[in-house]
Amino acid sequence: MDARHHLNSYVAANSHLNAYPPVQGGRGARNAVASYFRRRRIDADPQLCLTAPGSKAILYGLLASLPGDVVLARPSWVSYAAQAGSLGKRTVWCDIPAATGGIPDPDLLPEVLEQARRDGRDPRILILTSPDNPTGTVARADQLHRLAQIAVDHDLTVISDEIYRDLAYDPDEYTSIAEIIPDRTVVTSGLSKSLALGGWRLGVARFPATAEGEALYDRLIALASELWSGTPILLEAVVEYAFSEPADVVERVAQSRRLHGAVSQAIFRILRSAGASVRPPAGAFYLYPTFAGSALAERLGVHTDVELEDALLSTERIGALPGSSFGDRPERLGLRLVTSMVYGRSDAERLATLRATDPLQAEPVRSALEAISAAFSPVDM
Ligand SMILES: Cc1ncc(COP(=O)(O)O)c(C=O)c1O
Repeated sequence: MDARHHLNSYVAANSHLNAYPPVQGGRGARNAVASYFRRRRIDADPQLCLTAPGSKAILYGLLASLPGDVVLARPSWVSYAAQAGSLGKRTVWCDIPAATGGIPDPDLLPEVLEQARRDGRDPRILILTSPDNPTGTVARADQLHRLAQIAVDHDLTVISDEIYRDLAYDPDEYTSIAEIIPDRTVVTSGLSKSLALGGWRLGVARFPATAEGEALYDRLIALASELWSGTPILLEAVVEYAFSEPADVVERVAQSRRLHGAVSQAIFRILRSAGASVRPPAGAFYLYPTFAGSALAERLGVHTDVELEDALLSTERIGALPGSSFGDRPERLGLRLVTSMVYGRSDAERLATLRATDPLQAEPVRSALEAISAAFSPVDM
């Protein structure tokens, strides 16, 4: 039987499940989500967990339900600032630390907050991402402890976007800020990254067990009921299954982690030897080299990240997003590279790469790495 036939049978067998779903998600799914967080040392009550069609929807709902302006790491994922802007919120940017991304530098943040207030802004929400998009790094525990203290001192609500968490290359080294300040942190996650199921639109969240946490949860549910009504009922079973972490899911996520890790390290080495400034990757499938002052920038005669992106695409056929899309300064010449572009062209090729004993020797990866090396190689400069 082919996949379409299976799907048709599944849909036909469940076509009687046509009632609207609970807005917050079914009990089984929420229980699984709460246990998933508890296995990661994050206190979670199923009554304060929810499922939604994607974590992006949850993030938007949170920003809509919380007062004040938004503090973001520069660079950070494109949608945070776009969502904040569409809700009339202003973004307070804070540069990331030298070796990690996805978080504001704790050395800079207090002054950034003071300055923002002097400028008439009202920073009340801090979004952290670990591992993050675009730098593919993981926040260190000591940095999170310092950020937690700043969040307490400045009364910030923290949104910890942990959608890449299970793709941290060293899961034992991972700390969530929700372990440190559970009472002021909302954690979001989903299946789009660790299981590469972005098209299925499945996101989850865990809220603090406090009066404020419950009130925020209720506001978000009220909004969700007007916006998306609930998670498609046939997909609730997927949330319940995946967040229960049966052996096949754990194995699949481990394979993805290994593949992303091997390829990211290989591309990191290429970029470093080409003279880029780039943070060592520690999770997810991104790298964020910056090329200001590099021989490559000089050779290509570029002065902004958009010019660099254009030049690399037209001369070397390397696709990337400019750092300014992530809020960064164009003159830093930052680029976001996605490692998963090199795993293969078809589903069959990508699956073979995922299962390869040495992913770097899988044909699509090997030839793509050669092309990337040639494109960035200093001998060409
Ligand atoms: C940091 C980050 N958060 C959230 C998302 C979106 O997640 P979802 O598919 O659950 O809406 C992405 C997708 O690119 C992302 O990079």
